[in-house]
Amino acid sequence: MQTQNLNRNISEVFAAITLLFAGCQSVNDQAIDIGRTWAVYKADAHSTSYSPLDQINTSNVSQLHAAWTFTLSDLPASAQPVTSQCNPIIVDGVLYATSAKLWAYAVNAATGEQIWSYDPFDGGGGGGQGRGVTYWEEGEDKRILFAGGNHLVALDARTGNPIETFGEQGKVNLNVGLRDDPSTIAVSMTSPGIIYKDLIIVGSRLPDLYGTPPGYIRAYNCKTGELVWTFHTIPLPGEPGYETWPKEAYQYAGGVNNWAGMSLDEERGMVFMSLGSPTYDFYGADRIGENLYGNCVLALDAATGKHIWHYQTVHHDIWDYDLPAPPNLVQVNKDGKKIDAVAQITKQGFVFVLDRETGEPLFPVEERPVPASNLPGEEAWPTQPFPLIPKPYARQMVTEDDLTHYSDADHDSIVQQFRSMRYEGLYTPPDLKRTLMIPGTRGGSNWGGAAYDPATSILYIRGTDAPDIQTIIKEEAQVVAGLPIIDQGRRMYSTYCASCHGTDRKGIEANPSLIDLKERMTRQTALDKIKRGGGLMPPYAGVLKEGEIQAILAYVHSVDENSEQLTNIETDTTQPARDMYLNITGYRTWTDPSGNPAIKPPWGMLHALNLSTGEYEWQIPLGNNEELQKEGAPETGLEGKSGPIVTAGGLIFIAGSEDKKLRAIEKSTGKLLWETTLPAMANATASTYQVNGKQYVALSVGGTEENPSGSIMAFSLPQ
Ligand code: HEC
Repeated sequence: MQTQNLNRNISEVFAAITLLFAGCQSVNDQAIDIGRTWAVYKADAHSTSYSPLDQINTSNVSQLHAAWTFTLSDLPASAQPVTSQCNPIIVDGVLYATSAKLWAYAVNAATGEQIWSYDPFDGGGGGGQGRGVTYWEEGEDKRILFAGGNHLVALDARTGNPIETFGEQGKVNLNVGLRDDPSTIAVSMTSPGIIYKDLIIVGSRLPDLYGTPPGYIRAYNCKTGELVWTFHTIPLPGEPGYETWPKEAYQYAGGVNNWAGMSLDEERGMVFMSLGSPTYDFYGADRIGENLYGNCVLALDAATGKHIWHYQTVHHDIWDYDLPAPPNLVQVNKDGKKIDAVAQITKQGFVFVLDRETGEPLFPVEERPVPASNLPGEEAWPTQPFPLIPKPYARQMVTEDDLTHYSDADHDSIVQQFRSMRYEGLYTPPDLKRTLMIPGTRGGSNWGGAAYDPATSILYIRGTDAPDIQTIIKEEAQVVAGLPIIDQGRRMYSTYCASCHGTDRKGIEANPSLIDLKERMTRQTALDKIKRGGGLMPPYAGVLKEGEIQAILAYVHSVDENSEQLTNIETDTTQPARDMYLNITGYRTWTDPSGNPAIKPPWGMLHALNLSTGEYEWQIPLGNNEELQKEGAPETGLEGKSGPIVTAGGLIFIAGSEDKKLRAIEKSTGKLLWETTLPAMANATASTYQVNGKQYVALSVGGTEENPSGSIMAFSLPQ
C-alpha cells in the first residue's frame, strides 16, 4: 500500500508536468488529466477509443516491448482456456479489469502487481462475457461497478470490498424489474454501464430465444443501488412505439436489449445506445410490425430516461442484426460547419451518421424494397434503410464467382449448397430452404466498435466478411406423451443445444464437447450452467421450463431420481399459441467440407472512413492466414470482433484475430509499423494510458493450456 501511494504521488507530479507541456504545445484544446485518459470503457464517455497520448508514436513504436504481464489464475489449471473481452480502465495509476470468469481485479498499472481481486460468485462457477468495469467517484468515495452474473456489484475502488450500503450488501439483482418473474430469468451485462452524475445507466445480456425477457434500459443510483428510471425498449400501451407491435406483444416479446454499451454527451445530458433485435431472432410471426425500438440508435435524457429520438436501422429484424457497438460521438464538417453527430457501425457493414440532437441522417438514406418471407405467418418488413454514403465497408452480396476452390470436391459441394439455398442478397428472409446471409450474424462489425480520431474526424472500423447459413426448421411438439425422460431430453437437445454442441455432443469449434460431462461436473453445476449460461453459452432459465431443463439434463448428464418424470412441463399460457421455427445453424462461418472459408478473401479488413466526406481514406486487409494466402496475393485478412484504438501518436493498435497478433498501424496511411505475437489470441480491445511519465498499451490476452485463465499484458518503450 505504501509503494502504491508513493507511485500515486509521483504520477501526480508527472501529470502536472505533462499538463504544463500540453499547455505549451497547444496540441490539446483543454487540459488533459493524464491519469484519466482511459478511465472509461473505450477511452471515454463518447466511446472514441481515442487517446491524446503521443509518447509512443510512429517514430518509436518499432521499439515497443512487453513491460509486464499480470497472470490471471482464477480458473483451475485443468480448465479449458478462456478469453476475457475486457477493455481495462485506468484511474490514477490503477488498472481495473474483469477476467473471463468475471472476477474483478485492481492492478498497479506501472508494475502489473495485483492490488485486490473480487469474486462475485462467492466461490461458485461464475463466468460469462464481460467487457469491463465502470468507475465512479464523489470526493473520497471511489467505486468500481460491474456485473457479476445476475448482479450489478459496487466495490470500494481502493480495497475491492463490496459497498455494504449499495443494494443488498453491495449487489443489485438485475433480474428484478424486467416484467418477468425474477426467479425464472437470467439477466447479465456484457458491456459496462455508463455514468451520468450519480447514475449508472445499464443495458443487459439476454438470450436470443423464445421466452426472453424485454431488454429495458435502467439507471441505478451509484450510491444506493436504488433503481431511478426504466425505459421500456418494448413500449407499453400508451407509450410511443407501442403501435409498431401486436397489441399484446409487450407482455411476451423479448430482447431489444443494449448489450453493446452506451455513449454519453455530458453537456447535453443525453445518453446514446445501440439496441439489439427483438426475439425470437429469426422468426417474427408473433411480433408483426416494425418493432420499435428494436435495432435502433436511441437517445434518452440521461437524468430521466425520457425518449429524445430514435433511428431504426432494421425494421422487424429477422436476421439478428443487433446494433453491435456503442454509437461513437463524433463531429462532422459539413458546409464549413462542425456538426455534432453520432456514428453507428453495424453488422451489415453500413455506417449511419446521425445528427446528435435530432437523429436525422447527415447523408442520404434510401428505403429500398427487400424480399418477402416464405415462412408461414411471417411478414418481413417490405423496405429497409440503405445509406447511400458512406458505402458499406463489408461485402453485402456474393455470387458463385466469389466461392473458393481449394479442391474440386470442396468447390462442387459449396456450389451445390449455394444453388440450393434461398439467396437474394442482403435481407433475404430466413427460409425452410435454408438461406445464405452475408454479412452474417457476427458482422461486419461487432462489440469492439470503431475508434474515432477527433483531430481528423476519421472513424476506424474493423469489418469481417463471414457468411452464415441459416437453417430454419419447424419445431416439433416438445413433449411427447409416454416418451421416457431421456428421449424427451434428446429431442430437446437436438432443438436447443445441437447447433453448438453438435448432434453427436462432441462439440463444434469453441463449443465444448458434452460427452463425459458426468465425469467433469456435478449435476448441480451442469444445471447451473444450463440455466445461467456463461461465455458464449446462452442462459436457458426462463427460456425452457424447469421440467424441460431436467429432461435435457437427463440426456446430457443424468436423471434426477427424485424428479417426477416431466410432470412439471406445463404449457405456457402467457404466449399466444403459434408455430415455432428455429434456426439450427446460426453463428458459424460458412466453410467448405474441409473447413476452409467458402468465400474468397479478404475475410477481415480495417477501414479509415472520413466522416466529413463519407469517403474511405484507406482500406487494408487485417490479419493473415499464411497457409491460405495465394502466392503474390495480398494478405487474407481474418475475422475479428474486438476493436481498434487510435492515438495522438499517429497509431492504431488492434488485436483480436486468430493469428494472435497485436499490431500497430500508422493511422494516416494504414501501414503496418509494428507487430508482436501474443501467447494466445487477444479477443479484446486494447487500452493505453500513462503512469509515472511512461505510456503503456495494455490488453486482455486469452488463456493457454499452461495458463487457462489468461492474462493482462502491458507494452511500453524501453527506458
Ligand atoms: C450458442 C451456442 C451454444 C448453445 C446453443 C448451447 N451451448 Fe452449452 N456451451 C456453449 C459454450 C461456448 C460453452 C462454454 C462456456 C464457457 O466458456 O463457460 C458451453 C458450455 C456448456 C456446458 C458446460 C460444459 C463444460 O464442460 O464446461 C454445458 C453443460 C452446456 N453448455 C450445456 C448446454 C445445453 C444443455 C444446451 C441446450 C439447452 C446448450 N449448452 C446450448 C455454447 C452453447
